[in-house]
Amino acid sequence: MSGFSDEAAWWQSAVIYEIALISFQDSNGDGKGDLTGLMSRIDYLKWLGVDAVWLTPIYKSPFRDLGYDISDYCSIDPTFGSLDEFDHVLKALHAADIRLILDLVPNHTANDHAWFIESSSSRNSAKADWYIWADPAENGGPPNNWRSRFGGTGWEWCEARRQYYYHSFLVEQPDLNWRNPQVRAAIADVMRFWLDRGVDGFRVDASAVLIKDQLLRDNPPNPQAKDKPPPQRQTPVFTDDRPETMDCIEFIREVIDSYPGRVLCGEVQGKIDRIGHFYGNDRPRLHLPLNFALLDSQWDALSLQATIDAYLNAIPEHAWPVWVVGGHDKQRIASKIGKAQMRVLAMLLMTLPGTPFFFMGDEIGRKRVPIPSDRVHDPFEKLVPGFGLCRDPERAPMRWDGSAGGGFTNGDPWLPLEPGGTPNVAEQQRSERSVLALFRALIMLRHEHACLSQGGYEPLRSHNDVLAYRRTKGGAQILVALNVATEPRKWHWLGRGRLLMSTHLDRRSETLPEASILLRGNEGVIIALEAR
Ligand code: GLC
Repeated sequence: MSGFSDEAAWWQSAVIYEIALISFQDSNGDGKGDLTGLMSRIDYLKWLGVDAVWLTPIYKSPFRDLGYDISDYCSIDPTFGSLDEFDHVLKALHAADIRLILDLVPNHTANDHAWFIESSSSRNSAKADWYIWADPAENGGPPNNWRSRFGGTGWEWCEARRQYYYHSFLVEQPDLNWRNPQVRAAIADVMRFWLDRGVDGFRVDASAVLIKDQLLRDNPPNPQAKDKPPPQRQTPVFTDDRPETMDCIEFIREVIDSYPGRVLCGEVQGKIDRIGHFYGNDRPRLHLPLNFALLDSQWDALSLQATIDAYLNAIPEHAWPVWVVGGHDKQRIASKIGKAQMRVLAMLLMTLPGTPFFFMGDEIGRKRVPIPSDRVHDPFEKLVPGFGLCRDPERAPMRWDGSAGGGFTNGDPWLPLEPGGTPNVAEQQRSERSVLALFRALIMLRHEHACLSQGGYEPLRSHNDVLAYRRTKGGAQILVALNVATEPRKWHWLGRGRLLMSTHLDRRSETLPEASILLRGNEGVIIALEAR
């Protein structure tokens, strides 16, 4: 590996970019992205300035759930390429000083995984206890009331065993039994397989649901169930975020800690008051529990300052914060806040304390892509229709240019792209003031100023639609002021300041004559305070 310093904490100052490989770059015209395609875009990643890439699952899979249904943890799905190609990509990323984080899906496999085939063949098979099996209830029905997140009962009958197995997600995604030490050992082997090849870490999928209640106690009704999709009409007390789950995460962390300089990120329980637990105390858990609070926040200065505060207060003192503004499961934030505020979001993301994550396409301000009903892939939408749960609009192939295939493919893309051809990378690379140019400039600035990537954080009192805070390191002080209104707003501070950047990218490096600035509508600024 070349050029990396401070191995222990590279992920603290890293900017992390999520890629759904199937939608990134196709190289063979089958309409699906692949490893060779990714290889051809490493220059772009380098140009953009991201430090690490997190890839959604690339393993052998029937792809019923974007590859989160894995048939073999230790091979690459042929749609994406081969292990050799993987090794080449990893080497090329490292040569470009970009780390690679893989998705680890320890909660469930696909039902065509050899482990499940064996486990479901008989109650006496060698892997009989590798999944969550239970006898029927007295009436012959499912053992309890647990639901699948993708709709309906979470239990599926298996005739060969005359028992039910539990699936938190699709029927075709049986849950592994994490109480079984053999399962733990098998997943540890999977991790070592990839860590030995040189991957820099994992994002642990569904880490909060690894253990379910041993007594199979029924989940209570959700008092806020009204208007919720059926899977959310229960409070998942006995299936999600069980205390025993923490031990599993600690186990996974021990495996990763036996390799220096690797990182463990994880999908955790959504509630902000629980996120702190996922860092661990005496025994460490995740380095970076993913925090989606900004996506859920109302978009006004008072709500944002409260969201930021609530999160920072909820994590332990030793914890390194994380901010995620997009992902393969999350609605594109540009659709919610609009194009102009996307710039403010970019500045917020790159100046908050902690590790920023964004999803491919966020850097061009991409919105949700309309998906006609006959092109829907997402099982969530198919099984729980009518609640706007479809995740395909965010998963549409990357738009590299304005052509029909978007520069993504010469064939038929597996999901449609925006009909209008924009936004796209090529067009924004040509423009000095595009959202893409802004993301890039902000990443560069963050890398230049340790105060932004490593410094302390102090909120300032937000009012008049301006969200503001100070970052500090040694003697350096940087102020950030973000106007979330469409109208101009005056903002004051104390001291002599030099403008480092405006979200409009039209003023830079000016010493400001006064300790106040007129922020234009949707404008954010970064100001360095000059030492007196
Ligand atoms: C995780 C993934 C999501 C998937 C689910 C089930 O939540 O992020 O995309 O549907 O696990 O595998």
